[in-house]
Amino acid sequence: MESQIIHRKFIILYVLAALSIWGAAASSSSEDFLECLGFELQKLDKLYSSDIFYSSNNASFTSILQSSAFNLRLGSSSSGLQKPVAIITPLHESQIQASVYCFKNHNIQLRVRSGGHDFEGLSYVSYDNSSNSFPFAVVDMRNLRSISIDTETNTAWVQTGATLGLLYATIAQNSKTLGFPAGTCPSVGVGGHFSGGGYGMMSRAHGLASDNIIDVVLVDADARILDRESMGEDHFWATRGGGGASFGIIVAFKIKLVNVPEIVTVFNVSRTLEQNATQLIHKWQYIADKVDENLSLRLFMTSPKVSDDDINDGGGKKNKKRTVVAHFTSLFLGGVDHLLTIMKETFPELGVTNEDCTEMSWIEAMIFFAQLPLNNTTSQLIDDLSSGTGGSGLSKTYFKGKSDYVRVPIPEDGLTGIWEYFKNEDGWLGEVQFSPYGGRINDLSETQTPFPHRAGNIYMIEYGIHWDEARISESQKHINWIRRLHNYMAPYVSNSPRAQYINYRDLDVGKNNLHGYTSYNQASSWGFKYFKMNFDRLVRVKTKVDPTNFFRNEQSIPPLPSLQINTFRDHHNNMKEFVQYANV
Ligand SMILES: Cc1cc2nc3c(=O)[nH]c(=O)nc-3n(C[C@H](O)[C@H](O)[C@H](O)COP(=O)(O)OP(=O)(O)OC[C@H]3O[C@@H](n4cnc5c(N)ncnc54)[C@H](O)[C@@H]3O)c2cc1C
Ligand SMILES: *[C@@H]1O[C@H](CO)[C@@H](O)[C@H](O)[C@H]1NC(C)=O
Ligand SMILES: *[C@@H]1O[C@H](CO)[C@@H](O)[C@H](O)[C@H]1NC(C)=O
Ligand SMILES: *[C@@H]1O[C@H](CO)[C@@H](O)[C@H](O)[C@H]1NC(C)=O
Ligand SMILES: *[C@@H]1O[C@H](CO)[C@@H](O)[C@H](O)[C@H]1NC(C)=O
Ligand SMILES: *[C@@H]1O[C@H](CO)[C@@H](O)[C@H](O)[C@H]1NC(C)=O
Ligand SMILES: *[C@@H]1O[C@H](CO)[C@@H](O)[C@H](O)[C@H]1NC(C)=O
Ligand SMILES: *[C@@H]1O[C@H](CO)[C@@H](O)[C@H](O)[C@H]1NC(C)=O
Repeated sequence: MESQIIHRKFIILYVLAALSIWGAAASSSSEDFLECLGFELQKLDKLYSSDIFYSSNNASFTSILQSSAFNLRLGSSSSGLQKPVAIITPLHESQIQASVYCFKNHNIQLRVRSGGHDFEGLSYVSYDNSSNSFPFAVVDMRNLRSISIDTETNTAWVQTGATLGLLYATIAQNSKTLGFPAGTCPSVGVGGHFSGGGYGMMSRAHGLASDNIIDVVLVDADARILDRESMGEDHFWATRGGGGASFGIIVAFKIKLVNVPEIVTVFNVSRTLEQNATQLIHKWQYIADKVDENLSLRLFMTSPKVSDDDINDGGGKKNKKRTVVAHFTSLFLGGVDHLLTIMKETFPELGVTNEDCTEMSWIEAMIFFAQLPLNNTTSQLIDDLSSGTGGSGLSKTYFKGKSDYVRVPIPEDGLTGIWEYFKNEDGWLGEVQFSPYGGRINDLSETQTPFPHRAGNIYMIEYGIHWDEARISESQKHINWIRRLHNYMAPYVSNSPRAQYINYRDLDVGKNNLHGYTSYNQASSWGFKYFKMNFDRLVRVKTKVDPTNFFRNEQSIPPLPSLQINTFRDHHNNMKEFVQYANV
């Protein structure tokens, strides 16, 4: 069953050429690169179509590039960022191997894209727009999205081009009582999301997506196909939360599915400042990470435009001002009666009633959190979900995000200070999310996977701002808003390091040099924020598995430079030039 995805019938051994590639900095030419791709893919043509790459001359180049580029801020021509010279959409891992050969041979930088949701667009843009920049190309995993579910072992192989929506829909088609703990947005890609952790409404009950990975298949810097056994535990460890892009092109993950009850309960209750939102959020901080692990109370704060009827200040007077609204968006893995008992015991102030709650299946809950309408037929909704369609709240925008971790409850006046940032026009487009931690997230120690944000964290904050205009001045204004808010929060959040979540990527914390080596010290500025002490092990693994830093981007893990130089020759000396098909 599971071999379906790995296509073991043909193992194609693709071994790299040793000679010309590793000579003194081969000059990069995108024409030669494209020619190489055409030639190498042709060799595999008997098995798989070679019509899988697009250069800027192909009519559909721009639409393919933009189709899954989630952040319009980075895809627009006014961004000043560099676009790829080609997009490769492999149908089989042998085509990835062939592409890696051409990338190396022609000194073209490689980016991998699965769902294209990277906050800073590192899967499809390069920030190196200098006149002597390296051209780059994208390996886009969109065609590698098969999923095979094994309901006997409760495991699945998932190719990285699948979206979360497709994964959830496929699980639901196979079982009513299996699920998977990952994010809520259905168009997010498995490749980036699982590589950086993957937090969702079931994380308190079942950990992060990456905590549930049990095997992986990737193409490494020498174009070899490796799995957990052949890569070894260090390399495998790094793929479970060390961030996409640094350790190979991940083709598929094997995951452990989790048991879900046939009936779960959701609610989404909203409280304005006039309805004591500040006090409620303050109290929430004391229970969010400690409450029953089957309950996840996630908080979304916005400053929406509200009609006169929407707000009542409690004294019966209509309130015309903008306010801040806190949405308590929740999933309970159980029935409504049990949920209401827990709410009464732990958080009676919120006043959740039976009418606020809806019982449904796990897959319907995933549809609910994807903000798709629940009144369509389930099969229609599963179609919507698996095509990655999200509701209005999840459509493409110009966007900037940041994150923080909270270890001590923020006092009420600290929260009130946040609302100040929502009061001016800029803040009307902002959003702040509080995502509760605790529960099974704390089952693992800080070093068991690269994702270190476990015991001691009450919740994670995500700051986001969305706008719909391309002008640079607009972007600067909104980006400044989020930076000011982030500065304001410093006294209330984790420090030394001020931790951030790699999947909410933020280039404000630092980036690698666009040319030449990046020192360990330089990369530490952001590496410790994302990975704490695990950064050191990630650098060691990187130095071992990719000493020439073939897999790199603005925030990839750098190898140690001294070793990089010393091993440069040895590493590649024993390679021969041929493509061999072996029947296994
Ligand atoms: C609207 C929205 C909602 C979100 N909701 C959540 C949420 O609920 N919970 C949460 O935890 N996160 C959430 N995220 C963040 C999300 O998890 C990350 O942005 C994630 O990295 C996206 O993965 P992707 O494959 O879609 O992105 P991509 O842009 O394709 O990739 C992200 C990074 O991983 C690398 N990468 C991608 N695929 C591979 C691969 N196959 N092999 C190696 N490297 C690869 C890319 O090169 C890039 O560096 C959300 C993001 C957005 C935009
Ligand atoms: C892109 O254009 C090249 C050259 O015209 C062609 O060989 C290739 O098949 C095109 N790719 C696709 C996917 O159509
Ligand atoms: C290069 O990109 C930066 C933004 O990262 C931008 O400010 C600058 O104008 C760009 N330069 C060119 C030549 O496009
Ligand atoms: C807000 O809290 C105050 C004091 O705790 C209370 O008197 C009031 O009824 C609350 N308002 C609402 C709308 O719950
Ligand atoms: C959570 O729910 C599962 C059943 O889905 C149950 O086995 C487990 O005991 C529950 N956890 C708690 C803390 O009640
Ligand atoms: C929760 O309610 C708010 C306000 O109506 C809405 O904007 C938001 O999309 C809802 N969230 C979900 C998951 O339905
Ligand atoms: C489904 O609900 C939406 C509002 O959420 C409503 O606009 C629509 O008419 C409903 N459709 C059906 C078929 O009931
Ligand atoms: C879901 O319902 C809405 C209206 O309620 C409709 O516009 C939409 O097309 C439906 N989706 C599908 C897949 O039928």
